[in-house]
Amino acid sequence: MPPSGKKMIVAGNWKMHTDAQSAAALAEQVAGRSAQEAGQVQVVLAPPFPFLAEAVRRARAADQENGRQCVIIAAQNCHEEEQGAYTGEVGVPMLRSIGVGACIVGHSERRQYYAETDAAVGRKVERLLQHGLMPIYCCGEGREDREAGRHREVVALQLRTALGAIPGHGLAKVVVAYEPVWAIGTGLTATPAQAQEMHAFIRAELRALAGEAATHIPILYGGSCKPDNAAGIFACPDINGGLIGGASLAAEPFMELVRMARHAQSPA
Ligand code: 13P
Repeated sequence: MPPSGKKMIVAGNWKMHTDAQSAAALAEQVAGRSAQEAGQVQVVLAPPFPFLAEAVRRARAADQENGRQCVIIAAQNCHEEEQGAYTGEVGVPMLRSIGVGACIVGHSERRQYYAETDAAVGRKVERLLQHGLMPIYCCGEGREDREAGRHREVVALQLRTALGAIPGHGLAKVVVAYEPVWAIGTGLTATPAQAQEMHAFIRAELRALAGEAATHIPILYGGSCKPDNAAGIFACPDINGGLIGGASLAAEPFMELVRMARHAQSPA
C-alpha cells in the first residue's frame, strides 16, 4: 500500500483514567478540534464505560455544528454474548443503543489481568460485526517472546485463533492494532523498522486468512506512541495510525498525533 493517501486512524484508549467532568471535557475538545484538524484521518476515542454516553453526546454536538462526523466513540471491551446473566459485563447491543460505534477487544491488559483468550476475543469480534460496530482487535507479543525471536509465531497464532473463522467480508471491517506488550506504558517503543516489519507480516497473515478483502484492513501501532516518536512510525507504508494510551489523556498531545497522521497520509 503506498504511503500517500493510505487510510489513517488515531484512536485514544483512555483505559481506567478520567472522571465524569474530565472525560466530557476531553471528548468535547477532541471532537471540536478534529473537525478542523483531522482532515481525512479517522479519530476514535475510547473512554471508560460510565462516560461513554456523555462522550457520544459531546461528539454528536460537534458533528451537528460541523456538518460531518468528527470522532467515533469506542468502548474498551464488550461481552461476547448478546445478553444474559453475566454480572458486571456490558453487551454489544447496549453499546449500540447509546451510539457507540466501535470497540477495542483483546487488549493485552485484558489478556494479562482477566485471562482473555483469543477464542473469546474472536467471538467478541463476531458479535461486534453482527451489530455493525467496528472491532479494534489488539495483538502483540510479550518481551520474552520478542527476545526469543518468537514474535511472528505468537502474533500469527493470535490472529489465526481470533480471526480465522471470520469470513472475508467481515474481516474487511476489522481494525487491527499491533501492540507489543513490552512497549505499552513502558516508554520503550518499537523502532519504525520493527513496527513496519510486524505490520507487513500481519498484513500477509490477514491476506492468507481472508484473501484480497484483507488488503485494506487498517493496522494501527500501539505502545508508547507519542509526538516525539510518531513521525517515523506513521510514515511506514503498512502502518495506518496509532492506538494511543498515555498521550491520549490530554487534547494536546493527542491532536498533535492526529495532525502527524494527517501529514503521513498526504506528506506534500
Ligand atoms: P501507551 O501509549 O500508554 O503505551 O498505551 C498503549 C496502549 O496500550 C493503547 O491501547
